[in-house]
Amino acid sequence: MDLSVEYLGLRFENPFLLASAPPTANKEMIARAFKAGWAGAVTKTLIREPVKNVTNRFGSTKAGGKVIAFENIELASERTPDEWFSDIRFLKEKFPQKRLIGSIMGDAKSAKEWLELSLGCQEAGVDLLELNFSCPHGYSEKGKGAAIGQHAEYSAQIVAWLKADKRITVPLIPKLTAAVADISYIGEAVANAGAQGICAINSFPALLGFDLLTLKPKASVRGYSAVAGYSGVGLKPIALRAVSNLVKNPGLPVMACGGISSGFDAAEFLLMGAPLVQVCTAVMLEGYGLIRKMTRDLSEFMAWHEFTRIQDFLGRGNQMIRQYAELDTSYAVKAQVDAKKCTGCRKCVVACRDSAYQAIAMQDKVAVVDQSQCTGCSLCFQVCPHEAVQMVEV
Ligand SMILES: Cc1cc2nc3c(=O)[nH]c(=O)nc-3n(C[C@H](O)[C@H](O)[C@H](O)COP(=O)(O)O)c2cc1C
Repeated sequence: MDLSVEYLGLRFENPFLLASAPPTANKEMIARAFKAGWAGAVTKTLIREPVKNVTNRFGSTKAGGKVIAFENIELASERTPDEWFSDIRFLKEKFPQKRLIGSIMGDAKSAKEWLELSLGCQEAGVDLLELNFSCPHGYSEKGKGAAIGQHAEYSAQIVAWLKADKRITVPLIPKLTAAVADISYIGEAVANAGAQGICAINSFPALLGFDLLTLKPKASVRGYSAVAGYSGVGLKPIALRAVSNLVKNPGLPVMACGGISSGFDAAEFLLMGAPLVQVCTAVMLEGYGLIRKMTRDLSEFMAWHEFTRIQDFLGRGNQMIRQYAELDTSYAVKAQVDAKKCTGCRKCVVACRDSAYQAIAMQDKVAVVDQSQCTGCSLCFQVCPHEAVQMVEV
């Protein structure tokens, strides 16, 4: 199975990159990740101003012992840009076949800051430059991060500043936030200003709520908290939508990020048309070794469909995402219960009775669908814990 991909003329040995985050906090960590098999990494975001993080800075919501939602109020890298430039040099020398992406963040009004950081990263040898227009906490109130990515003019202006300086030749990839009305509008603005690719998305502004025993907010800093960045499995559908929109318009090559924790998740983003995927929270929870499972899963998915190269299915799924009005109202499915699998738990009966069409009743301890009442909404299929309900075309 050939998992290699091309992105802006660069070869990546597989589509898996570490996103800009704690797993890419310094050269030693990135080196270990490269040895584990990651094709590339985005450095933790470089910023000129000194960084002093709060503690604690993470929160999570668990279901069945597993983290299903993660949040953080962590700032950019605590390492100085100069320390990073020497780390980048070291990594490029030691791992020339791996791809290193520099992530930078400056002030919306300071061309100088963006230029200095870009030139420093470029001279140190990065393959691509990710422009952090999307950090949702800590910086937006200071005119940085998401405060930039939520305004097309600021985003375009920064790309235009960098493109106007002929010394900068490294491709520019703005990292966008989905916390906007229309991400394609921001995408078009950066594309028109000269960006060569887009990364989507960063963590989403959110609040995870309270610990009900202590009455403290999650990610509690002496009992207080602030708007945080939401990430992990729950972010995936939001990221998929952003990627779908961006692949269609403006059509720059997208690096996908958000809720990717398996090779199967990656397959969905590849189907949507993003040739590369970035991973953060899943690695924070499971370690760099996750790459082995991710490549195995992706290869398995490809084997199901007899795909031998990523190109065989890249972008195939996005054509199936249409305007609502284009969906076929003559297509009809109805629920059917497999009596052998039904345990009589009544979940489908209750759901259909209280939130749908009162089409399911129990007969001899088995759920039975009244086909004349079923409208095919599929709520019973969604709630059945035993895969006893099927939606069948009629
Ligand atoms: C603790 C933490 C720190 C992060 N720091 C950065 C950062 O410095 N720069 C950046 O662009 N994104 C940062 N992110 C966002 C991630 O790169 C990624 O966009 C986001 O978490 C969604 O991906 P995921 O669901 O795989 O985590 C951070 C995320 C987390 C959880």
